[in-house]
Amino acid sequence: MGRTRKEASILLRKRRVSIDDVVTTRGADQVDPARQTVRVDGAVVTWLERRVLMMHKPAGVVTATQDDREPTVLDLVPPDLRRGLLAVGRLDKDTTGLLLLTDDGGLVHALTHPKRGIEKVYEATYEGELDDAPSRFEAGLTLADGTICRPARIELHDAGRARVTLHEGRYHQVKRMIAACGGHVTGLHRVAVGDLRLDPALAPGSVRPLTADELALLEGSAD
Ligand code: URA
Repeated sequence: MGRTRKEASILLRKRRVSIDDVVTTRGADQVDPARQTVRVDGAVVTWLERRVLMMHKPAGVVTATQDDREPTVLDLVPPDLRRGLLAVGRLDKDTTGLLLLTDDGGLVHALTHPKRGIEKVYEATYEGELDDAPSRFEAGLTLADGTICRPARIELHDAGRARVTLHEGRYHQVKRMIAACGGHVTGLHRVAVGDLRLDPALAPGSVRPLTADELALLEGSAD
């Protein structure tokens, strides 16, 4: 099927959808595809599930659905799951960690819209002195090009390691914020988006659908 939310809501409004032969107009109705039969215009719908995938992005692939020169994150997805997938935000080619992919444009919007300010957590390694970075991150620092960042958090650990929490997703943001404080990022790994954490058992380059519990955590973050 692969319908968008908008298309689905039009079908519902026009009373073209039924669950077990009862017409439904409510998108919120829960359906158990194993037990119930959904029809659109009388034809049985076989694929209701939208796809929401968790990837452990490895270094060396770009966050794009197509690229003439570089391998993309989509190349790592099994072909039968690829159709219509969009990335939820972007990670740089050399950044690793949690990347979500979905065919649900509404979910991408809900998770990336700046107004929602969904939390993203990164582990960084860096060179340089960042002693004043925690207060500058908290105050909302200004990047070299004049961009003013929202208040963020950086916790400095030993041996040039830091944990960074942002509520927005600008281009190269962690690297540029750390650069603005006089440091240089040497490695970046995303561990969480909202309440959802990267599964530590998921190897770099692997991808799998979210579990129902993970989906609930993510939807809670997007509310
Ligand atoms: N900030 C960066 O600098 N790079 C990323 O990939 C993500 C956040």
